[in-house]
Amino acid sequence: MPQKPNADMYNGSTDLVIDEQTELAQWLSRKENENQVVRTRLKASERVIARVTDGIYRQPESALRELISNAWDADARNVFVLTDAPRFSRIYVRDDGLGMSYETLARLVHAIGGSAKRRQEGQKLGITSKDDWDRTPGGRPLIGKIGIGLFSVSQLARRFVVITKVAGENYRLVAEIRLRVYSEGDDDELRDDDDSFLSGDVYITREPTQDVSAHGTDVVIEDVKPRVRDLLRSADRWRALDEKAAAIADGDFDMAENIRVEEPKYHAGWIQRLGKSPDEPVLLTRPPKLPWDTKDPADIRMSRLIDAVEGEFTRLARPELATTLDTYLQTLWTLALSVPVKYVDQHPFDLTAESNVKLYWISNEPRGQAQQLKLDIGQTVRDAVREQVDGRPILEDGTGPAAEFRVQIDDVELKRPIRFKFHKTDRRGLDQPMLFVGKYAPNLERIDSAQRGGILSLEGYLFWNGRVIPKENNGVLVRIRGASGALFDPTFFNYQVSEQTRLRQITSELFVKRGLDAALNIDRESFNFSHPHVQLVTLWLHRAIRQLTNRHKDVSARLRTDRLQEEANTSMDALTRFSTDVWTMRRRSDPPPEITILPDPKEAHKARTDGAIALARSDMPILDISQGAERETRDAHAKALTRVLAAFGILDDLAYEEQQALITAILRVFYDAGAL
Ligand SMILES: Nc1ncnc2c1ncn2[C@@H]1O[C@H](COP(=O)(O)OP(=O)(O)OP(=O)(O)O)[C@@H](O)[C@H]1O
Ligand SMILES: [Mg+2]
Repeated sequence: MPQKPNADMYNGSTDLVIDEQTELAQWLSRKENENQVVRTRLKASERVIARVTDGIYRQPESALRELISNAWDADARNVFVLTDAPRFSRIYVRDDGLGMSYETLARLVHAIGGSAKRRQEGQKLGITSKDDWDRTPGGRPLIGKIGIGLFSVSQLARRFVVITKVAGENYRLVAEIRLRVYSEGDDDELRDDDDSFLSGDVYITREPTQDVSAHGTDVVIEDVKPRVRDLLRSADRWRALDEKAAAIADGDFDMAENIRVEEPKYHAGWIQRLGKSPDEPVLLTRPPKLPWDTKDPADIRMSRLIDAVEGEFTRLARPELATTLDTYLQTLWTLALSVPVKYVDQHPFDLTAESNVKLYWISNEPRGQAQQLKLDIGQTVRDAVREQVDGRPILEDGTGPAAEFRVQIDDVELKRPIRFKFHKTDRRGLDQPMLFVGKYAPNLERIDSAQRGGILSLEGYLFWNGRVIPKENNGVLVRIRGASGALFDPTFFNYQVSEQTRLRQITSELFVKRGLDAALNIDRESFNFSHPHVQLVTLWLHRAIRQLTNRHKDVSARLRTDRLQEEANTSMDALTRFSTDVWTMRRRSDPPPEITILPDPKEAHKARTDGAIALARSDMPILDISQGAERETRDAHAKALTRVLAAFGILDDLAYEEQQALITAILRVFYDAGAL
């Protein structure tokens, strides 16, 4: 843990008040003022500051994302986020970036909503590059531009401390920010509803230090709001589970059945009763169950987390984060997707022939088709594109400075939790994934300059997989300057053509190099859809999806023809024929799935891994009968029924146990009706 800052240092009250920015900076510049406290008031347009409390940053991870973005913008190489999980009373964020000068700090508190980034002012303050104010001094594209990100911390706590130090100086600056929340017609200070607005005091001290070369910024949050703590510690879920356990203990099974909550498979632990003081020893109600080993180093833990989620495949056809992980682990996952860090295995553009992907180049022509590329041994996707596509395009994403940016949260190094590993869904379907990559920089000269919204350029990929694991990785994620507030959008910006199944098999990321920024709403989590850049990006994405589905249909149609040939040779009974026709009507070119009934869950699981839909006889008494002929009939019914349900997509989101329970229930309607 970073050293606990000395509370006395910034807790003091003071008579000295300076409310003017230049005057404040000057006061802080003087060595003789060291160790004294100056008070100043936060300044911003009410509109902007009100929006910060308007709940634009709803999730705790949004605030962490903003702090990590600030560290990126300050050219930090390492960010450490430390929490006292599973208690969550404290959060420290420490970076080894450039730190803030007294001018920058004075500006920070007096010009909220008026960022100095991406304008000349930033050059004067030394927070942007001398050659290009769109970049950091170290050459990274700047993420910040509004000037409110830091105040997203107001969602987490009403008081926080910023400690910052610039290399080469013999002092550091300590600023305690105390926020005041006014609610109209209500002077209850503890309220923090959405319709309140915010102001506050800042207590700043210039402290001498011997460590001249040190640099970086700490944001220290010592008392996280109770509501946020409860969110982070999944309190609602654990309380419901406790209730359920109590109901079972009381024999109230109706009640227990009604509490529809599952215990997270992996979690940081649960403390039912939090002590009054953060230093009080706590009693864990539930010990943590983490997907990694205590001796696993930080840089492989993210990989362990993904293994754990993928492992849920033994239970669910489409593993999902929501039931598998508690809020804390989900927060790690989400943050790892949002911030500019490396991929857990490798960047999709660095995949090689070993990955077994079928590779295509996305055409930018309105009615163009994707070009298939060859991925030779030892070549990467980047190489193949450069060597085989006209104009020798270069895919740049993932080659920049992101490699030097590491973010660690409580002993877990964040890495983008996206793997390009094939998961089969259909034994006779495609047995390799498809990767579509492309690059787009439309010529906007013909569009009226007032309309075009500046230059737009992007790179991107669409990855088709048998199944996307976890389910939350399905959709399109748009990164601007390496960062993304929004997660995967499973509608693909409202793609209207009914391609249900195939859309659910796609993971896509767009890496926006220039533009689109202005279309980002203030929360950085959604887009203004009327902005011309959003329309262009949408157009390109939808074209790329169409190219993918066309290619995919071709390949599966060929497989299907083979399959039909095979079937023509074996006589199909009427039931199989009927259910296969239902499948074909619903799914068109997708080959119908193979359905098998196996003796026990273990074998069923093996078949599922192989892409079949499998039922375990020992789990389904209705099928587990001895009479030969009757058994055959039931099996045939069960298979046809399963195929029909699958054709309608009913089984996709059910755990295997649930699938079997559903099929059993339907069969019983017919077989056991008399006996009921
Ligand atoms: N970790 C940090 N290291 C150095 N300077 C920082 C850090 N965090 C904040 N700052 C300074 O504080 C200013 C305000 O940060 P804030 O996140 O509120 O706005 P921004 O980054 O400029 O814009 P945006 O609202 O788009 O994030 C920054 O412009 C920067 O000068
Ligand atoms: Mg910022």
